[in-house]
Amino acid sequence: MNGRTRPALLGLLTFLLPMLLWAEPQTLVFSHVVSPNTPKGKMAEMFKSMIERRLGDRYEIVIHANADLMDDDEAVTAIAEGRIHFAAPSLSKFEGYTQQLKVFDLPFLFPDMDAVNRFQQSPTGQALLTSMESRGILGLGYLHNGLKQLTASRPFTRPNDLAGLRFRTMNSDVLIKQFELLNAEAVPMAFSEVYGALAEQRIQGQENTWSNIYSQAFYEHQPYMMISNHGVLDYMLITNSAFWNGLSEADRHEFRFALEMSLKYGNAVATAKSTNDKVELERMKNISVYEPSADELATWQTAMQPLWTDYEDLIGEHIIQAARQAGR
Ligand code: LMR
Repeated sequence: MNGRTRPALLGLLTFLLPMLLWAEPQTLVFSHVVSPNTPKGKMAEMFKSMIERRLGDRYEIVIHANADLMDDDEAVTAIAEGRIHFAAPSLSKFEGYTQQLKVFDLPFLFPDMDAVNRFQQSPTGQALLTSMESRGILGLGYLHNGLKQLTASRPFTRPNDLAGLRFRTMNSDVLIKQFELLNAEAVPMAFSEVYGALAEQRIQGQENTWSNIYSQAFYEHQPYMMISNHGVLDYMLITNSAFWNGLSEADRHEFRFALEMSLKYGNAVATAKSTNDKVELERMKNISVYEPSADELATWQTAMQPLWTDYEDLIGEHIIQAARQAGR
């Protein structure tokens, strides 16, 4: 190298080196449908900040909240096809991929969230996380939201009171049949459409958790609520199997750690919100929150419980048994 080429080469290196070192981080998309101020919204933000703090030179997590990218039904397909990287749809939204998760939709199967948690952490519950792996969907953990409550635009205390009303459901045939057993009309609909449908009175009722009823302002058009605790609305944190298996072992370890921490945090938020948002709703002047007696609740249970046997073969008897065992 002569005296003239050396400075030229050095100049070129000074120009290229930062470009080589400054490779753009890979964008990973986390799509969800609820507001940022919910258990899932908070969990996603903590996950993003942990990953970007530890691996920010290589990964950037972009969160799409409030279904601003896609609704949950599409998110499940987008995960299976590897078009997005993370989502946490409700356990009711996997109908196209597995029948086993329908266990979570069976009414009155879980007496409280401790029972839900025990089942999710049991060997049967953990096996459900990998039940869709061959279809490209890998479950990385469960996230709580809470127990569902019934709300309507007119007063109700007994199952017959809902007859003839149009109730929004998630896209799950167990949930559709649940309302048909009450002689109500089930209207499956994406979460992002519920507020508008209530406001325009295209539907007169819905079921959801305290946190969703409050954060989506469903109460503005649903002055009558019942503490029914008749079902569970929890989530599975999912990723695309090929993307996950393609990560280096070290990165996968970091992702697992960040997920474990943020799921714990999200679950703590879920417990707090379930209590706080219920209290907020009970305090509202125009809202009536009805607390049924044990006998009254038993009439709802009798009306809905036939679904347990109707779905035994499809879900698997051993799965339903394990869930019942967790509730004892
Ligand atoms: C719903 O559709 O009601 C829920 O799945 C929304 C959510 O993600 O909590």
